[in-house]
Amino acid sequence: MFLKKNKNKTADIDLGGAAESVAEKQPKVTAQPVLARNMEAERLEKEWLHRVHEKLMNAVDMSQLVNMPERAARTQIREVTQRIIDEESIPLPAAARTRIVKGVEDEILGLGPLEPLLADKSVADILVNGSQSVFVERSGVLEKTEITFKDDTHLLHIIDRIVSNVGRRIDESSPMVDARLKDGSRVNAIIPPLAIDGPSMSIRRFTVERLGIDELIENDSVSQQIAEVLSGVVRARLNVLVSGGTGSGKTTMLNILSSFISHKERVVTIEDSAELQMQQPHVVRLETRPANIEAQGEVNQRDLVKNSLRMRPDRIIIGEVRGGEALDMLQAMNTGHDGSLATVHANNPRDSLGRIENMVSMSGLTLPMHAIRSQIASAIDVVVQLERMEDGKRRVTSVQEIQGMEGDIITLSEIFAFKRSGVDAEGVVHGRFISTGLVPQFTDRMKERGYDVDIELFKPDEEFA
Ligand SMILES: Nc1ncnc2c1ncn2[C@@H]1O[C@H](COP(=O)(O)OP(=O)(O)OP(=O)(O)O)[C@@H](O)[C@H]1O
Ligand SMILES: [Mg+2]
Repeated sequence: MFLKKNKNKTADIDLGGAAESVAEKQPKVTAQPVLARNMEAERLEKEWLHRVHEKLMNAVDMSQLVNMPERAARTQIREVTQRIIDEESIPLPAAARTRIVKGVEDEILGLGPLEPLLADKSVADILVNGSQSVFVERSGVLEKTEITFKDDTHLLHIIDRIVSNVGRRIDESSPMVDARLKDGSRVNAIIPPLAIDGPSMSIRRFTVERLGIDELIENDSVSQQIAEVLSGVVRARLNVLVSGGTGSGKTTMLNILSSFISHKERVVTIEDSAELQMQQPHVVRLETRPANIEAQGEVNQRDLVKNSLRMRPDRIIIGEVRGGEALDMLQAMNTGHDGSLATVHANNPRDSLGRIENMVSMSGLTLPMHAIRSQIASAIDVVVQLERMEDGKRRVTSVQEIQGMEGDIITLSEIFAFKRSGVDAEGVVHGRFISTGLVPQFTDRMKERGYDVDIELFKPDEEFA
């Protein structure tokens, strides 16, 4: 319904964003008239694209087209588009003509102006803030693109297409929704009235180039030593909590940790929006379901954790613990599902435990604080803290062991840390990974389970010795 609302609005193309990016691209010496000509050509091309698209929509039976096999549909679209361009005698250079044909295809079968970004493997996140502003993240750095939508209606149309593909809907009565692209990328869309300045969409790309532990070591997200210990920790079936802020690399780390799990084990994963890419052959992936329009049928993470326990899992992996399922997770970890992995949104290891404690109380069960904390202390063995630093880099900033309780307090001991030494003129954070010298108690348990860890890995750095 909302799609129709702005129907009569004319295609006044705002060149604000485009002009800025074009200006950025030009060498400083470029004379003004050339710049103006480029902008004018770009504007005209966009206008033609919209016009040809509109004509095509009137000319063909859309319902038939979208039901065709993709290749046949593309051929049809290409033919009709070429014909329209010819009929209209549009004066177009060949390159612009090809771009328009491709643009029309993208409009009808793809995500319109976002298609070039989806084809670009270096793009990690796509962030649409209203129809005139699209940002991307590349290698941890945000940058504005010159991509724009015709208007909010156009953007809503694209959002609507994504959302309806996964059987959900978005409109004034349900203005925010999570969805997924065909390639697995995670999408969140939120529209007016909740999003005040127009429809907004955030796409977290399903990592085209999957990061592995070697890449993390290479780009200094983690040290060789830490990687080695974490791999042993997972193999020896210790319970690990990955903690970090938004976009700090929690899911990536969880994925990497899960790659150390033996292929002989049966793994059940539980997520709000399936992102994990498990390598093992024996995996059951579960995903929550939101309530439908009648507020029925919700299946939350807690339901799934409970259900997973009846599925004879060797390990349970929870994408992100956010609520009452924390209690069931702790109980599972304490009752034989060793080697479980989970992430939690927190800024340091101590806070991550505090968050779990709060979430246990959200389960509705009133347990004394001491009881909750003892459960946490005996369930979780290791906390891996991640941070996205101001230079855009994600790093493991701390690895801590939970040793037990002292009175009412859970005792956490740091084994490894990232020690900052400063920030250079380019804003790059400098520092190094250090061992504190503490040999964790879990090494004994690892040994019992047949995993000998080299004690040398924990040798303290000089300043800690
Ligand atoms: N160590 C790393 N080095 C480089 N890029 C990374 C690293 N870790 C994660 N990324 C990239 O950062 C982005 C965010 O990562 P990820 O989804 O793992 O974070 P998250 O903490 O789970 O985010 P959210 O809070 O949204 O769930 C992804 O594009 C991912 O590829
Ligand atoms: Mg995540």
